[in-house]
Amino acid sequence: MDITKLISSIGGKLPRPVAQAAEKGLRKLPGVKGMLDKEYAGLLESIEADLKPYRGKFPDFASLPSDGMVDEDIFDLMRQLSEHETNRWRKGYASGAVYHGDEKHVKFINEVYALNSQSNPLHADLWPSTIKYEAEIVSMTANMLGAQEAKRINPDANVCGAVTSGGTESILMAMKTYRDWARSEKGITRPEIVLPITAHPAFDKAAQYFGIKAIRTPIEDDFRADVAAMERAITRNTIALVGSAPDFPHGIIDPIPELSELAYKREIGFHTDACLGGFVLPWAEKLGYPVPLFDFRLPGVTSMSVDTHKYGYAAKGTSVVLYRTPELRRYQYFAATDWPGGLYTSPSMAGSRPGGLIAVCWAVMVKMGKQGYLDATRLILETADRIKQGIKEIPELKILGDPLWIIAFTSDELDIYRVLDAMAERGWSLNGLQYPPAVHIAITLRHAQPGIAERFLEDLRESVQYVQGHPKASGGMAPVYGMAASVPFRGMVDDLLRRYLDLLYKV
Ligand SMILES: Cc1ncc(COP(=O)(O)O)c(C=O)c1O
Repeated sequence: MDITKLISSIGGKLPRPVAQAAEKGLRKLPGVKGMLDKEYAGLLESIEADLKPYRGKFPDFASLPSDGMVDEDIFDLMRQLSEHETNRWRKGYASGAVYHGDEKHVKFINEVYALNSQSNPLHADLWPSTIKYEAEIVSMTANMLGAQEAKRINPDANVCGAVTSGGTESILMAMKTYRDWARSEKGITRPEIVLPITAHPAFDKAAQYFGIKAIRTPIEDDFRADVAAMERAITRNTIALVGSAPDFPHGIIDPIPELSELAYKREIGFHTDACLGGFVLPWAEKLGYPVPLFDFRLPGVTSMSVDTHKYGYAAKGTSVVLYRTPELRRYQYFAATDWPGGLYTSPSMAGSRPGGLIAVCWAVMVKMGKQGYLDATRLILETADRIKQGIKEIPELKILGDPLWIIAFTSDELDIYRVLDAMAERGWSLNGLQYPPAVHIAITLRHAQPGIAERFLEDLRESVQYVQGHPKASGGMAPVYGMAASVPFRGMVDDLLRRYLDLLYKV
C-alpha cells in the first residue's frame, strides 16, 4: 500500500460526522481528535511494512554504534541495499527519476565528487575553484537560454543567477526575490502570484514559506494555461505570473510569449519554470521540433528555474535560478552586518553548500557540451515519438494534449488506474495523475536504450488487453487512486500526508 491508497481509505473508513467536523476546522476538539488519531494510526500501521522493507533483515541504527563499524562492513551493507534498488531504474522501468544513468556517466560523476568532496563555496578563499564552477554553470545556462539575444534586444539585460539545491529551491528563491522586489520598489505588502493549476507545488511551498497568496487559474482544453483567466486574476498586489516549459503533469508548454507579454505590460515579474525543459527545449528547437519561445529572448521573462539535476544530467542536488538583471538577483541574497561572528552573506537558502555537487554539475556540463545535449535530446525525442505513436495505435488510450517527451495518457473506455496497476505488475514505476485521472511517463535516456520503448509498448498493450478482459477484477491500486482524488476531505488528506512523513522518519 502506498500513500495514495492510505489516503483514499480515509474517505471510506471515517464516520462521516467526524470527517465533517474535522474538515470544518474542529480537528482539535478532544472527541474528534481522539477518533482521528486512532484512524490515522491504524492506516499508517497498515503501510509501515511496505515502507520499511529492510527492517529486521539488516541492522538498524537508532543510536550511534559504540564502536565505529569498519569500512568494509559498511560498504558490504550498503552494496546489498543498493543491489535491491538499482536494477529497476537502470533497466528503464522508471518515469523520470534517473535522467542519464549510464554506467560510465555515473562513474565519472563519482570520481569528480571524490576529488571535490570537501569544498564549500561559503569559504571562497579556500575553494576559489568552486566559485569559478558556480559562476560558469550560471553563465553556460544563461547563454543556453537566450542571455545574449536578450542583451542584443535590450542592453540593460544582464542575465545572471545562482546554483541552488534543486528545482524547488530555485522556485523558492525566485518567489522570495519577487516578494522583496515588490515590497521595496512598489510598496506591495500583501503579495500575490498568479499561476495555472498545473504549475509545480513548489510555488505553493514558496507562497506558504514567504507569506505570498498563490492564485491558481484553470487551463484550456489543450492543457495550456488560460491566458485570459490569468489576466483576470491579476490585482494591484500581483508581483509575478508563472508559466511552465513544460509542466510536470502533462508535459505541456504554457503560452509563455503571451503570458510574459502580459506581465511586461503590467510591469510585474514573469517566471518560466523550465525545471524540466531548460536543458531539452533549446536543443529540441534546433532539431526542428515545434518549440515556442520560452526563455530570455522574450522581454517579459524576468526569471527562470532550470534543473541541472534532471535533463542537465548532473548528480541530484543542483539547479539554476536565473534573473534578467543583477538588480533583481540582489533581492535574493541574504546579508547580516552586525553579527559577532563577522560579516555574513549567502546567496540562497543554505549557508554552507556542497561544493562537490557544484563541481560535478560543472564537469557534466563541460563534458556534455552543446553537441552532447543535442544528441541526448535527439535520442529522447525520437524515443518519445515512437512511444507516442505506439500509444496512439492503442484505440482505448488517448494522449492528453500535444506533448513532446513527457507523455500523459488516459482512456474514455477503461479505468486508467487499472492500466497503471497492470503496468506496475510488469515492473513499471509510472506516475498516476488526478484531475483528470491519467498516467504519465517522462522519457529519459534510460528509455532510449535498445528495446526499452518496445518493451514499454508491449507491456502497455498487454495491460490494456488485460484490463479489458477482466472488467470486474478488484484489488490493486485502481480503486484507490480513484478514491484518493474524490475524497472530499482535503484537510484530512493534508493531515495524513504530514503523518506519512513522520512515518518515514521512524527507525
Ligand atoms: C516542472 C517542475 N518544476 C519544479 C520541480 C521541482 O523540482 P525538484 O524536485 O528538483 O525540487 C519539478 C520536479 O519534478 C518539475 O517537474
